[in-house]
Amino acid sequence: MEPLLTIFWDKPTGTVCFIDQTLLPGSFRIERTREVGRLITAIRRLEVRGAPALGIAGGYGVVLAAMAASCEPPGMFMESVRKQADTVRNARPTAVNLSWGVDRVLRKLEDSSSPEEAVTLALAEAEAIAREDAATCRALSKHGAGLLPDSCTVLTHCNAGALACREWGTALGVIRSAVQDGKHVKVIACETRPLLQGARLTAWELARDGIDVTVITDSTASFLMRTGRIDCVIVGADRITRDAVFNKVGTYMHAVSARYHGVPFYVAAPRSSFDPIRNEADVLIEERHRDEIACFGDRVTLPEGVPVINLGFDATPLSMVTALITEEGIVRPENILSFLSSEG
Ligand code: MRU
Repeated sequence: MEPLLTIFWDKPTGTVCFIDQTLLPGSFRIERTREVGRLITAIRRLEVRGAPALGIAGGYGVVLAAMAASCEPPGMFMESVRKQADTVRNARPTAVNLSWGVDRVLRKLEDSSSPEEAVTLALAEAEAIAREDAATCRALSKHGAGLLPDSCTVLTHCNAGALACREWGTALGVIRSAVQDGKHVKVIACETRPLLQGARLTAWELARDGIDVTVITDSTASFLMRTGRIDCVIVGADRITRDAVFNKVGTYMHAVSARYHGVPFYVAAPRSSFDPIRNEADVLIEERHRDEIACFGDRVTLPEGVPVINLGFDATPLSMVTALITEEGIVRPENILSFLSSEG
């Protein structure tokens, strides 16, 4: 099976290309654009999603901004790039990788002496982010695979796989590496209401790789833990602050159940998902549209006028995490501050 490339730059056409994940598993389509506005729409609609993939998208967003700003009068170039880069940065608030990717590429432009040079520097840096993401996922997956028993059932939530990164994945990368090492791993994927990233995306990419995957409703997870059918939980992260892990809403519920039932709870994430200067209270949790809850496909499932709370993410205290799996090795929550202050 060909490896998945979730997001990449196409040199001949000068466009950023990405899998439209809203269409999976029904159809597989690669979108391409050279317009910043189109990329922002793709981020907001979750055509491109998952923290590391958002970091890559952020980097390519600045490339597109620099390409567009090349037509501005001299002297206006950087101002125009910065303005568009801000819109990319703010497209979704919770995953820190998005602003990380935008800022990393923006910093490279500050030294450029012409718009042409700026575009070249921006593209080189964005491509470096994409390449590094693939290597980082492999490295953290290798560390994480060592934590899994030779034969086990792993519960995961949302999609922290190849589709959420450039390729391979974080939480699903750990599972892929363990399977590659010859371990017998069964995956229980929570469907992940309301947008079903677990059912639509995790199940799709694992089944595509021939990895044993079964989907449950999110509310089944606790009972499977109580009846001894889950050996550990592995999830990804959108942001890890000094005190908490932000990930798809429902993650905290699994952490509580895992703690109660004595099941190890692991978080797999690259350093680009860590936010060393913030605490949980400083982070904005994305609230999404009512219709994501009020409708199921074309069917209205909520009486008119009834409000919803549709949080995209929740936060799990670090003290409830058994271990963080990073490209630099396994980090225990009690060592988070020294990890955050180290260089990487
Ligand atoms: O709203 P989404 O689909 O972008 O949310 C994604 C998640 O919550 C993932 O678990 C997280 O980004 C980690 S991806 C390696």
